[in-house]
Amino acid sequence: FQEQSLAHLTVTITAGPTREALDPVRYISNHSSGKMGFAIAEAFARLGATVNLVAGPVHLPTPLNVNRIDVVSAIEMEKVALNYAKESQIFVGCAAVADYRAEKIALNKIKKTEKNDELTLRLVKNPDIVANIAALEQKYRPFVVGFAAETEQVAQYAQDKLKRKNLDLICANDVSNGLVFNSEQNELQLFWQGGSLTLPRSDKKYLATQLVFQLIEIYNKNYCL
Ligand code: C5P
Repeated sequence: FQEQSLAHLTVTITAGPTREALDPVRYISNHSSGKMGFAIAEAFARLGATVNLVAGPVHLPTPLNVNRIDVVSAIEMEKVALNYAKESQIFVGCAAVADYRAEKIALNKIKKTEKNDELTLRLVKNPDIVANIAALEQKYRPFVVGFAAETEQVAQYAQDKLKRKNLDLICANDVSNGLVFNSEQNELQLFWQGGSLTLPRSDKKYLATQLVFQLIEIYNKNYCL
């Protein structure tokens, strides 16, 4: 791989958490830092690809030569990601999208009252962004890569997810030991139709580069023969 070797490719990546408002001052979210997705964006850009990075609320600088689009909610992330994905050869869903959002966002701050010791929130399911992109009709459908954070039976759950979401490649990590979220390091197990591979524990930036090399090899086998 040389400096401009991916100049023919457009890649769209989602990264970070989404934030689902409950009222004007509160939200539901998660601890995703966005580091892995940003590192993947940086690795693709360094190899000359055109990179769109659809980022949830994170505290990270934009990598060099990356087109960053900031979003907040899953609905917003889906709209932007779908638009860019349709014009991309590769889509990487790295975001920790909130599974549910409030059915209705309260217009005013939800008040605590003396008599109510309990509060019920009604949540509805968010769209599955990576699965919806994988379900695009063929002429718009990029090569689709997903992630799977699992605490047990990592290989089994990851392979199930690969099939269920119709992905081309899934990158699984074992999050049972608390060494992934907001960490500088990660280890990935890759699964695709034709095989599997472990990328050993290392710095997320190094790992992202290794992942991009592997991903391109699988992509080339699928699309260039
Ligand atoms: O189903 P699960 O959340 O474990 O799947 C993880 C994969 O699906 C990741 O690639 C994540 O970015 C993607 N995802 C998504 N939209 C959702 C939920 C997950 O794109 N609503």
